[in-house]
Amino acid sequence: MSESLENRGFIARSMTWINERFPWTPTMEKHASKYYAPKNFNVWYVFGVLAFVVLIIQLVTGLFLTMNYVPTAEGAFGSVEYAMHEVDLGWLIRYAHSTGASAFFVVIYLHMFRGFAYGSYRKPRELIWLIGMGIYLVLMAEGFFGYLLPWGNMSYWGAQVIVSLVGAVPIVGADLAEWVRGDFVLSGITLNRFFALHVFALPGVLVVLVFVHMVALHHVGSNNPDGIEIKDKKDEKGVPLDGIPFHPYYTVHDFFAVMVFLILFCVVMFFAPEMFGYFIEKPNFEIANPIATPDHIAPVWYYTPFYAMLRAVTFPLFGLDAKFWGLVVMAGAILIPVALPWLDKSPVKSIRYKGRISKFMLGMLVISFIVLGYLGTIPPSGFGTATAQIATLVYFSYFLLMPWYTQREKTKPVPERVTGGH
Ligand code: HEM
Repeated sequence: MSESLENRGFIARSMTWINERFPWTPTMEKHASKYYAPKNFNVWYVFGVLAFVVLIIQLVTGLFLTMNYVPTAEGAFGSVEYAMHEVDLGWLIRYAHSTGASAFFVVIYLHMFRGFAYGSYRKPRELIWLIGMGIYLVLMAEGFFGYLLPWGNMSYWGAQVIVSLVGAVPIVGADLAEWVRGDFVLSGITLNRFFALHVFALPGVLVVLVFVHMVALHHVGSNNPDGIEIKDKKDEKGVPLDGIPFHPYYTVHDFFAVMVFLILFCVVMFFAPEMFGYFIEKPNFEIANPIATPDHIAPVWYYTPFYAMLRAVTFPLFGLDAKFWGLVVMAGAILIPVALPWLDKSPVKSIRYKGRISKFMLGMLVISFIVLGYLGTIPPSGFGTATAQIATLVYFSYFLLMPWYTQREKTKPVPERVTGGH
């Protein structure tokens, strides 16, 4: 070893040793200290990192939960109660996981809304968006399978309602529902397979998809609130004029955001883990009872906008019953954002420069989603159903009319360089 190398500190020597065997420093430079992100990120750009944090919380707490959980119809409910009351810090682990489930969807809905607003799904980020939609679907399935595991009465009846929807598929429905359950009724066999999917298969898929999401993002670079491609204007060294190194500028921002998020997370987890029945529903404090339905069956809040759309379809069509069409509308509502990159024909990306109709439609989309979300939590009524039908139409018109209104409206001129920032 040369003398100069020996004189260097232990860390520098270790780094050299590692770099000769593994591309640590080049990877860190490529993805952090020499990764140039637009300088005008705003608060909407913290939710990706927060989703990452929640994913880790869920993986870690989930791992510890499985150490006490018994995946059988006889043992599940009792094992969760045991973890809550007898296991050291078991209550903390369980509440962190149940709060984490809701936090995941809060963060993901905000993350997706940012995409809607700034046109992040547009070229060249279509694949980031599609992978994101894949993540969203897996996340919904993950939440659904996980919800059955405590084997509470709402777990049981919620799963019963959703699995029976499969039965509405023409011809093969009944067989399909039986195949999903693995039994003639929802039973311990169903619980067993949901457990396998929830703790093994779907988390694996999720982690792979998140990795691919990041690879695609770092390949094309981030969009920003102006919807301007910073790679179009570079200095003589090839550095985007409106870019700043991700590390340290955004690592510091993100660190602050994560701290604020964790404080809010702890407030909910310690003081309102049930969130007045929205995060953990009352009937779930009782064991699953196949002969006693809860007074009112409703899914957890993050599914209720789609549940309300399912219930909004009250009429048969073409000889097929309302339940089948409800299923079609619900699946359509969940999947339709997949088409966004091809529905948006606007000459500009960001809502800042789009016209009045786009702004109005985006506002209406948010309102309809919140109204539907609320309606999905309450028992059906004549007025509620009529409102849900209107809100469903509003929701779909945001997407289906988009090719028309994004071409028709007058947009604002987009500046040459990004506005604001450091
Ligand atoms: C576990 C779930 C997810 C994680 C960990 C995650 C992570 C991230 C991160 C760290 C970023 C960069 C920072 C940021 O722009 O906020 C990002 C960007 C992005 N994500 Fe996700 N994401 C997730 C789910 C989703 C979903 C469900 C969608 C959409 C359906 C989505 C669409 C996007 C898009 C379009 C971008 C680029 C945004 C832009 O540059 O303006 N992501 N994601």
